[in-house]
Amino acid sequence: MCGIVGYISKNKKASPILLDAIKKLEYRGYDSVGIATIDDEKIELKKDSGKINEVDKKVNLSDMRGCIGIAHVRWATHGHPNKVNSHPHTDHDNRIAIVHNGIIENHEELKKELIMEGHIFESETDSEIIAHLIEKFISKGFNFQDAMIETVKLIDGSYAIGAILVDCPNKLIAIRNESPLVVGLGNDYNFIASDIPSFLKHTKKVIFPDDNELVIVSSENVTIKDLNGNILDKKIETMAWNEEMAQKEGYDHFMLKEINEESVVVADTLSGRKEIEKIVVDLGSINKICFVACGTSYHGALTGKYLFESFLNISTDVSYSSEFKYLKDVLNENVLTIFVSQSGETADTLSAIKMAKNRSKTLAIVNVLGSSITREADHVIYTKAGPEIAVAATKTYLSQLVSIYLLAIYLSKNRNNKFYENMTSQIEKVPDYINELMLNEDKIKEIANKYKSTTLFFFLGRGFIYPTALEGALKLKEVAYIPAEGYPSGELKHGPLALIDENVAVMVLAPSENSESISTSSYKDTINNMEEVKSRGAQVIAITSYKNGENIDVNDIIQVNNQIDELLSPLVYIVPLQLLSYYISIYKGLDPDKPKNLAKCVTVK
Ligand code: F6R
Repeated sequence: MCGIVGYISKNKKASPILLDAIKKLEYRGYDSVGIATIDDEKIELKKDSGKINEVDKKVNLSDMRGCIGIAHVRWATHGHPNKVNSHPHTDHDNRIAIVHNGIIENHEELKKELIMEGHIFESETDSEIIAHLIEKFISKGFNFQDAMIETVKLIDGSYAIGAILVDCPNKLIAIRNESPLVVGLGNDYNFIASDIPSFLKHTKKVIFPDDNELVIVSSENVTIKDLNGNILDKKIETMAWNEEMAQKEGYDHFMLKEINEESVVVADTLSGRKEIEKIVVDLGSINKICFVACGTSYHGALTGKYLFESFLNISTDVSYSSEFKYLKDVLNENVLTIFVSQSGETADTLSAIKMAKNRSKTLAIVNVLGSSITREADHVIYTKAGPEIAVAATKTYLSQLVSIYLLAIYLSKNRNNKFYENMTSQIEKVPDYINELMLNEDKIKEIANKYKSTTLFFFLGRGFIYPTALEGALKLKEVAYIPAEGYPSGELKHGPLALIDENVAVMVLAPSENSESISTSSYKDTINNMEEVKSRGAQVIAITSYKNGENIDVNDIIQVNNQIDELLSPLVYIVPLQLLSYYISIYKGLDPDKPKNLAKCVTVK
């Protein structure tokens, strides 16, 4: 999705710093780029469609004068990805420049009115109206700050806006509504940005403005006001993340680095157990859980359903965030709604939590400190994954799962359930199991190379491991562009079996039935389902912790430690699936960090 940055300093040139900062936002997904600065009473503007390095080569983005500027990476929503539609946008006289992330829903009517008043538009975007509205209010005699306030009073939709004005060259102004915006505080410089990694190199001190708070930034000061002009006292937070965490550190890609960090991430997230235990004290009366999430986070939530229903006897629904509003309203004070989101900014999940709060208890499981979803929730569990830069979620998925397991463990402790005792010690072993699996990397590379040209994959799993099959299929689609379907193992024969032949690869997830807490017959049943696809000619790859797994008659096998409790298998089996997708992507010559059409943080509905 679009990303914005603004920078102002006493005497440092803004454009190289802005260029570096938008490179850190590349991971959000984009198609165009631009920077505007103010110098010598003029706006200097450079922008175009294309990758940052390509545009930089063409127009030399770092060679712009001025110590104040705004920058943008655009992910097109309204208007094609081309130079004219790229941000920043200006008013007709080039006195105002703005960058915008979000969607202005009433832009068409506002544009019509502005055109009737004589404004001339250049682009097809919804965003350009912002520059014209500010121009309109400035020409009516409003100062910069009040012109911004009048502008946002007229626009409906989601926005994070950064604006600069030639007549006010020592100030940049920003404002947000349902789109991410953070402020980075330096010594004689300050930043506004969509995301923390963009300025992490310069400062770890941040302020998180709330919706419709005006952020007025000079090189020395940041003042935050409400729309009535009252100064607000905002908390300054210090990020635990550091710049190295947002670097590749010798890995070819962020995705590979982030997969390699997983055992540490699991251990770090486990270290947060006390915070989760405290939250659980407040959840005593709940008798129903509704998980709400999108994409990978949805798969984490679905794993939660299996845990909560099996061990806590708590009826648990899982809803896609975008569908939540269409479902029958079952919320009341005994319902816990849990919102799972890496970014904490996903527009659909944010709308869903706004609907659910005050009507149920709300808990957010989120990776990014201070993000919008965390500010709506009664309780927050921060996953401790550090910044995730690759578009495809990997380590944050693991940290969400661990948080959900800890939640189930402590809820079961409060209910004197046996699950608590069994799982508390078992889950500690997960980092070692993951490390052990990483030793299989060569085997996974070999399998990736063998299946890189396969045109259809199925991922099968039963019970607790079924959501992992969905997540394995999603990873392969995202980074290797191979059609892939995740299915419950027993469901294939109800239709999709018609697609099976020797050109199809089937990944079978077959944990052994060794759980101290439950007894299932999932392994035997899964192996029977595997035979069904084998006999129709499919190429079968199995991941199993079954003791004599190597004896299973399949084309390829990845053996995992047979001590892994079946219940914990989702925390381990996903790792080879992520690696497989990564290496297939590499062998196909793709860039796994930036899959086409996708954005890391989906801030539009
Ligand atoms: C897949 C992926 C997406 C996200 C989804 C939700 O690899 O990253 O499917 O999981 O867009 O994002 P968050 O978790 O930030 O709400």
